[in-house]
Amino acid sequence: MTLLDGKKLSNKIRDNVKLEVQKLQKNNITPGLAVVLVGNDPASAAYVNMKSKACKESGIYSIAHEMPETISQDNILEIIEMMNKNTNIDGILVQLPLPKHIDTTEILEAIAPHKDVDGFHPYNVGRVVAGLDGFIPATPYGVMELLKEYDIDPKGKNVCIVGASNIVGKPMATLMLNANATVEICHIYTKDLKAHTLNADIICVGVGVVNLIKEDMVKDDVIIIDIGINRLESGKLTGDVDFENVSKKSSYITPVPGGVGPMTIAMLLENTVKSAKNRK
Ligand code: GUN
Repeated sequence: MTLLDGKKLSNKIRDNVKLEVQKLQKNNITPGLAVVLVGNDPASAAYVNMKSKACKESGIYSIAHEMPETISQDNILEIIEMMNKNTNIDGILVQLPLPKHIDTTEILEAIAPHKDVDGFHPYNVGRVVAGLDGFIPATPYGVMELLKEYDIDPKGKNVCIVGASNIVGKPMATLMLNANATVEICHIYTKDLKAHTLNADIICVGVGVVNLIKEDMVKDDVIIIDIGINRLESGKLTGDVDFENVSKKSSYITPVPGGVGPMTIAMLLENTVKSAKNRK
């Protein structure tokens, strides 16, 4: 069993981002990222903090717009419009989920597609589905880079994706399909999850259920990508896979923490630099 070390690869990518930022600065361009955080969800606040810190470390200028839970749809739209027009800002990221009274689709569609470094705008979703250049959502992008680092080619492999969110599962399926894998997407209404996971050469799971994937659900030498992040009562972080037992049957497996999580941050920085390079 080999651990897919996302911490190590993300450090390598972040070092490279730092160099790219220095090159841009020679042309008087400092990449800029605006992060919008609404409400007091501790997990969202923690993610936004990590993103801001990572920007700082790589020389990317970042501003955080923190707004109360009660903010109106129009106020958020105004901030986005301001950031769309701000020539020092290359990327705009609205941390999800948003409060219930907010129309998330309208917010995401208000972000200028060329600043949509999360890749959640339908323009970028469509481009990526069509195999065209566009912003790729950071988490599935990070998974593909991690596989590449370990010379794992999804071509012709059976890939089972567990979780069908717009942020992770659907774009993960798109990237795997574009890489010529045979793709299945399972979700909460899937009748017999085990029947699908048992057939998979690669399983990507990100649903937020501790120990969802157990050893009797995977075949020998499976490749496991654990995108789940769950905090146990003890305070310890864990993924969606019973790591102790499933790892014994795996050829490759991501740890949690230290697998996909750090890759997500690295790819966000990479997308921000990509956007800055396109600055007119
Ligand atoms: N919420 C959970 N994951 C993400 C992410 O990658 N980007 C944003 N904006 N919100 C998230």
